[in-house]
Amino acid sequence: MEILPLTGSLGAEIFDADIRQEEDFDEIQAAFSKYSVIVLRGQNVGPKDHLAFARRFGPINVNRFFKPVDEYPEIATVLKESDQKEAVGEGWHTDHSYDAEPAMGSILHAIEMPPFGGDTLFVSMGAAYEALSAPMREFLDGLTAIHSSRHVFGAAVMDSEAVKSGRLGNAEAATQDTRHPVVITHPFSGRRGLFVNPVFTTKIEELDSQESEAILTMLYAHCQQPEFQCRVRWKVGDITMWDNRATWHKAINDYHGFRRLMHRVTVEGGPLSHNITA
Ligand code: SIN
Repeated sequence: MEILPLTGSLGAEIFDADIRQEEDFDEIQAAFSKYSVIVLRGQNVGPKDHLAFARRFGPINVNRFFKPVDEYPEIATVLKESDQKEAVGEGWHTDHSYDAEPAMGSILHAIEMPPFGGDTLFVSMGAAYEALSAPMREFLDGLTAIHSSRHVFGAAVMDSEAVKSGRLGNAEAATQDTRHPVVITHPFSGRRGLFVNPVFTTKIEELDSQESEAILTMLYAHCQQPEFQCRVRWKVGDITMWDNRATWHKAINDYHGFRRLMHRVTVEGGPLSHNITA
């Protein structure tokens, strides 16, 4: 297989690999650890192969809110129809950060793509953290943040197009409020990175509301610098896997009038810590 880095901060494209082949797995896993986002080109495989590949990394973590794929309750549908305006995942976020043990990774398979657009952007949270000044890193190092599912998937969004169209549901299960360190140490690499995101993080616990908002606004602007990003341009059949402990992502909603269908599987994670625990 051929592995080509996408940018200096994160991401790599992988050509001539086959997610079904056990002998390809070690190299794929090593690339995932190194680049945090891997784009496996040309995986014309079915849902069973998608799940089997995910299980090589760990148990499946089933999303509570996304419409499941027919006959495959462990696979979430990520869909925008040609007559819909809202895309699922258009805000910068980290999947499942509202869980006490957020999913370690997400594996997205492109089933149907628009003729243009519909790319996904990623940010390296390690690169963003390292680019902060030493006094700011020191200030953030001891803080914790609250993450919630309520305002994103709960009763407050019942009127949204995504809920009304059945793409998102199960609002009564949106009861998660959890605390994570603002800066985590990646459980495998030991690299420090920011772990707050604009969609699910509601407050830095130790600060008052105004201070928290000011610091989060500053961090979000800092993280969105192009130097920390990579952009995945999809073709049908591609699979992209990202590390939720090391990245943010965002679906670009620039293909109105066309359908985009993806299948997503998330893999269980573990507790997050400011310090190395393993
Ligand atoms: C997601 O947020 O998991 C979906 C990303 C995408 O559709 O590009």
